[in-house]
Amino acid sequence: MAEAERARAPAGGGPDLQALARRFEEEEAAVADRAGWEELRLAWVGRKAGRLRALLAGMKDVPPEERRAYGQGVNELKKRVEAGLAELDARLARREREADRRAAAVDVTLPGRRPALGTVHPVTRVNRDMERIFTELGYSVAEGPLAEDDDHNFEALNFPRDHPARDTQDTFFLEATDDQGRPLVLRTHTSPVQIRTMRERTPPIRVICPGQVFRCDNDLRHSPVFHQVEGLAIDRGITVGDLKGTLEAFVRRLFTPDTRMRLRPSHFPFTEPSAEVDITCPFCHGDGCAVCSDTGWMEILGCGMVDPRVLAGCGIDPAVYSGFAFGMGCDRVAMIRYGIPNIRLLFENDERLLRQVTV
Ligand code: DAH
Repeated sequence: MAEAERARAPAGGGPDLQALARRFEEEEAAVADRAGWEELRLAWVGRKAGRLRALLAGMKDVPPEERRAYGQGVNELKKRVEAGLAELDARLARREREADRRAAAVDVTLPGRRPALGTVHPVTRVNRDMERIFTELGYSVAEGPLAEDDDHNFEALNFPRDHPARDTQDTFFLEATDDQGRPLVLRTHTSPVQIRTMRERTPPIRVICPGQVFRCDNDLRHSPVFHQVEGLAIDRGITVGDLKGTLEAFVRRLFTPDTRMRLRPSHFPFTEPSAEVDITCPFCHGDGCAVCSDTGWMEILGCGMVDPRVLAGCGIDPAVYSGFAFGMGCDRVAMIRYGIPNIRLLFENDERLLRQVTV
């Protein structure tokens, strides 16, 4: 017990309980945090050094006639201390909860994080442009399955069984088979959609068939999955002139109005005659540059007049009708248009590539 407390002790020699109560109030008011509260608790009700325990232990020094009053006084002080501690505890707990809540809360005044906006993939852009141009020219869009049977992918297109022409299209065969027990194939081109269209519709026919195709190829310019757009026009009296005029109108819209085009004789089993189409290099406009290996030209598609055998095989009389067909790779056009040197860049989904392609 401190000297000052003893000095103010009542005549009986016991401690001054009122002074102690005031002291508790002062100390209580000074508590600012949990550590202060704990200190206060230990100082007053701690098992070892608590003042209240000392007061009770001091009972024996109080004269017998004052003991009752002393005991009551200590009891009141004890109640006051315990109530004070409990209230402080509750107040601190509220503050702690509030602090936790604030720490966990979202600061609504912070600027928002912009969601990363997607963009249209270069191949999709090219595809859409092609579809738009051909729809303007009066074509409609037809689709077919990715897993084809041998007939649609090869035979009806004049690739006979065991014919070496099939070797040009390294094919993925599936375990599933068609109704003749021949394995289905992942279509190696979009040309089977020509067959489906001719068998389902009657001329005049004007369709384009965009979609994925698959070949067992893999290098800088070839990917096992790529995209083609096929075109087919069948009507009475269609000539090579119609084919050339249509393709010219198309490449000038797809590239630039000054694009020139040339046909080189070629061979496809399902067209006769067949040609490969070159356009003037869109980078040097025909002067010759590194992109076109100084030739001034770039090959972009294959085409031809639909072979009469193919027409007949689809129930269209070649004596009445004729038509042209063409097919091209969208990935290749995207690579040319955007100067992309490696086809794999188109399939890696690296946003840095996608962000650069905006038109
Ligand atoms: N199917 C051919 C290929 O994938 C491309 C093609 C060439 C399609 C000429 C045609 C065409 O319709 O007439 O190599």
